[in-house]
Amino acid sequence: IKKIGVLTSGGDAPGMNAAIRAVVRAAIYNKIEVVGVLQGYEGLIHGDFKKMKSHDVSNIIQKGGTILRSARSEEFRTVEGRKKAHEQMIANKIDALVVIGGDGTFSGARIFTQEFDIPVVGIPGTIDNDLFGTDYTIGYDTAINTVIDAVDKIRDTASAHNRLFFIEVMGRDAGFIALRSGIATGAEAILIPEKETHTQELQKYLEKGYKEHKSSGIVIVAEGDKSGGAYTIAKEIGKEHPEYDIRVSVLGHMQRGGSPSAFDRVTASTLGVAAVEALLDDQKSIMVGIVNGEVSHVSFNKTIKNKKKVKDSLMSLNDILSI
Ligand code: F6P
Repeated sequence: IKKIGVLTSGGDAPGMNAAIRAVVRAAIYNKIEVVGVLQGYEGLIHGDFKKMKSHDVSNIIQKGGTILRSARSEEFRTVEGRKKAHEQMIANKIDALVVIGGDGTFSGARIFTQEFDIPVVGIPGTIDNDLFGTDYTIGYDTAINTVIDAVDKIRDTASAHNRLFFIEVMGRDAGFIALRSGIATGAEAILIPEKETHTQELQKYLEKGYKEHKSSGIVIVAEGDKSGGAYTIAKEIGKEHPEYDIRVSVLGHMQRGGSPSAFDRVTASTLGVAAVEALLDDQKSIMVGIVNGEVSHVSFNKTIKNKKKVKDSLMSLNDILSI
């Protein structure tokens, strides 16, 4: 391998820049040329490449977003789109790719490697943490800290007014952000898609808290929860309990921004180097991840086909702590 391309695709996540920096520097360290591909697979299709030198990634480890910009490419889903991307790689003598993103990114990469036998290594970058084969994805820790900061502030005003808040957090169809941030903020209840929401159970629980004179209530609702989201569940509870002073807060895209935490920076740096080393080791069609503190390799096949499970022990933790 003489020249690799690096791109970020799908929803951006804090720490993507730290990963780009690590890929670029590790490639240069190993005497491999590296180009940045702008706007994910879109840039690959249209030949939007930028030669990267070491100084091009100076001063970005602390920045949110992605200097390469990101996109969800419809064209790359088509055979013609991927053919164009391959032609661009040949024309620009790019031998291999490092793709930073989530399962959509890896699904595209998997089919691309099958069609054209191009080595591709993935780095998990998504705030959702919903990727099988890694304990943590880049951006997850920062997003949780952002949520915690917001919920702590909401708790102040909730307590001042004796209010019950339903706070909706991101996570797509997974509850990882909700569960961890709910535990960290001492939420009264956490609603996640992995666990069926029993409205009656929740009502009983909240009623108990109310009777016991809790001064505020926080219910963290994962956006993918089957209850239909924070507004729907708040309305339902409000109908049954007009005595509650209920408010809803949807945190939204603030969860995707901001300077990455130390944890995300170190994870991104580790995985960026690991991705380049994996390519040098003739690996293709795999994602690098962190399992039990060590770098792991998992095939795109496995990470796409398997669903990562939420830890049962974490789910029961909140039942004990929120009495
Ligand atoms: O996958 C990251 C994520 O932020 C999800 O948590 C959320 O459901 C989705 O992306 C939002 O996507 P968009 O930025 O396209 O609105």
